[in-house]
Amino acid sequence: MKSKDAAPIQVSISGRLPSTPRLNPQIRRAPDRRQGLNQSDLVLAVKNALRYVPQKWHEVLAPEFLEELLSRGRIYAYRFRPEGRIWGKPVDDYHGILEARSIQVMIDNNLDFDVALYPYELVTYGETGQVCQNWLQYRLIKKYLESMRSDQTLVVMSGHPLGLFPANPEAPRVILTNGLMVGIYDNSQDFQRAQALGVCNYAQMTAGGWMYIGPQGIVHGTYLTLLNAARKYLGIGNEQNLESIVYLSSGLGGMSGAQAKAIEIAGGIGVIAEVDLSRIKTRSEQGWLARWSSDLDQIFGWVNGLRESGEAMSIAYHGNVVDLWQYVLDRGIQVELASDQTSCHAVYEGGYTPAGVTFDEGRRLLADDPKEFRKNVDASLRRQYRLIMSMRERGTKFWDYGNSFLKAVFDAGEKDVALHGDARNGFVLPSYVEDLIGPICFDYGYGPFRWVCLSGKSDDLAKTDAAAMDVIKELWLSRKESRGQDRDNYIWLKDADRNKLVVGTKARILYADGTGRVRIAERFNAMVGKGEIGPVMLGRDHHDVSGTDSPFRETANVRDGSNIMAEMSHQCWAGNAVRGMTMVVLSNGGGVGIGKAINGGFGLVLDGSERLNKVISNALDWDVACGIARRAWAGNPSAIETAKAWNESHLGHMTMPNHPVEGMVEKVVSKRMKA
Ligand SMILES: NC(=O)c1ccc[n+]([C@@H]2O[C@H](COP(=O)([O-])OP(=O)(O)OC[C@H]3O[C@@H](n4cnc5c(N)ncnc54)[C@H](O)[C@@H]3O)[C@@H](O)[C@H]2O)c1
Repeated sequence: MKSKDAAPIQVSISGRLPSTPRLNPQIRRAPDRRQGLNQSDLVLAVKNALRYVPQKWHEVLAPEFLEELLSRGRIYAYRFRPEGRIWGKPVDDYHGILEARSIQVMIDNNLDFDVALYPYELVTYGETGQVCQNWLQYRLIKKYLESMRSDQTLVVMSGHPLGLFPANPEAPRVILTNGLMVGIYDNSQDFQRAQALGVCNYAQMTAGGWMYIGPQGIVHGTYLTLLNAARKYLGIGNEQNLESIVYLSSGLGGMSGAQAKAIEIAGGIGVIAEVDLSRIKTRSEQGWLARWSSDLDQIFGWVNGLRESGEAMSIAYHGNVVDLWQYVLDRGIQVELASDQTSCHAVYEGGYTPAGVTFDEGRRLLADDPKEFRKNVDASLRRQYRLIMSMRERGTKFWDYGNSFLKAVFDAGEKDVALHGDARNGFVLPSYVEDLIGPICFDYGYGPFRWVCLSGKSDDLAKTDAAAMDVIKELWLSRKESRGQDRDNYIWLKDADRNKLVVGTKARILYADGTGRVRIAERFNAMVGKGEIGPVMLGRDHHDVSGTDSPFRETANVRDGSNIMAEMSHQCWAGNAVRGMTMVVLSNGGGVGIGKAINGGFGLVLDGSERLNKVISNALDWDVACGIARRAWAGNPSAIETAKAWNESHLGHMTMPNHPVEGMVEKVVSKRMKA
């Protein structure tokens, strides 16, 4: 169904006004996010939405949009959602040039009922991460993509397609930004108002970056985090798994749901609290969660048996995580590893259900009395933190899972959680990037690289898995020093099909390093060129070596004071655009919330052409090298090692730091200050 490279057409939403939609009551819905806009803001928001449609429909739509705003806090324009199922279909089922069709696959996958958290509200994951703001934008983006030529770029600002503009064929076909605000307004209050006005989108990372591949994307990272946490904190050997080790956490949502699968793959016992029964059922039906119960006595009966047998299992506790912590503390139950994956990046918007209320009661409280909801959240967070600290004294190793949990505890009034009482200094408990993923993965260039077989064929995925395994094995054997990460990656790929990780498009995640990514991409491009497989979309999570500046997470182990700067993510984004990525995105707040991060990503369509080999060797390499150079300059030892190797093997040069002799500067400063 490929269209000819036709002249641009007028792109607008016209034709017949769609009828009132029938929404499937079985599909999970986003909570009411009412903002209490004043009257002039209500007028502005409705006028903003009406800009997308012809005037003849305004009389009908103005009251409808106003009702949506008053009852749900946003104008989603439900009427404009295409009827029925949306999903990432095989690429040839779409219209337009290959790159534009590929991007449509990615967008639709992010809205699939099986993949998305609140598909009717265009939320893919992470409670608030949206593809775009409303269905009008969705329709318009699709229309632009269908008519796009290979010398045009579609510009999308917070979900709003600004238009198609002439560009070089080597330029990105789509450039996206989400929620980037002017500094003084870069706070959640102004952000939420802007969202309600319909001028701002919260993208999380791959939701508004159109690169989500279902929970598999995070399973691999979670599996690596759990393995490396046990290696670092409990001293298990590189060849061992988590047999008879208990991991306690919360959340079985979009990303957090990966914990259940990952703990089983890692061989341990997971007890994960989840307040929302529908999410427990989803994970059970999917086969990612082995058992669940609302009875903690029953759960810990199972745990005792599993500890003895050494069997791996994921168990959900249907209830509040605070009650789970209280239970293990009161009964002196041993918990070796623990974290939390409630959506604390949106803690007052429904991401965290406070102790003492059920999930539904929490939702009602949020809608009826947001102030009281906030008070309850703060009290609950403080209590949870104190319970964690008590369990820590008994040996539990806890880390922040990049969900802003520790920052939320701090904001709730527990100032002791911050080093010297100031959150800018970091926290008394480690973040998983600071201790685990940063030094073990990012500083070497390993990160959540991924690919999607756009044909939709399982066979293509199997062929790409096999090719990637070959590359990883070659690397593993050829490195001067053998790396655990290569071994973990090889095993991950070997077991990937058996672990049934695919939800949505035929995709694979792999924590490959810079060299691995380039070689895998070259191999895939050759396979596409020879017709062995269909076209492939490459991408990554923004939670990577270079893509994100986030002092509480991705850049938590950058310690030269530059962790509050957001230049790496901007440079990475711009560098990817000029080096020919198909799609580039830069967003505000991914993972941790507004004003706390700037994050970017890319998409690259492999069409098998020679031109793509050049893009691979320049852009894909830059996408990792940017962060290696920055991490090396900050003095991270593994990044320095990786940067030195890069300098020896590439046509380029990374600036290397000179380190003073240990203690010399301290002496100089101390002497001068005494004088
Ligand atoms: N998994 C990762 O590797 C990873 C990495 C970085 C950040 N995160 C962060 O983790 C958080 C979760 O992401 P998600 O996509 O799963 O979000 P989500 O909103 O889909 O899931 C969070 C889940 O927590 C549950 N929950 C909320 N409060 C609870 C409570 N008190 N007790 C028990 N359950 C409770 C919710 O019902 C929900 O299902 C986000 O803040 C995200 O940014 C995860």
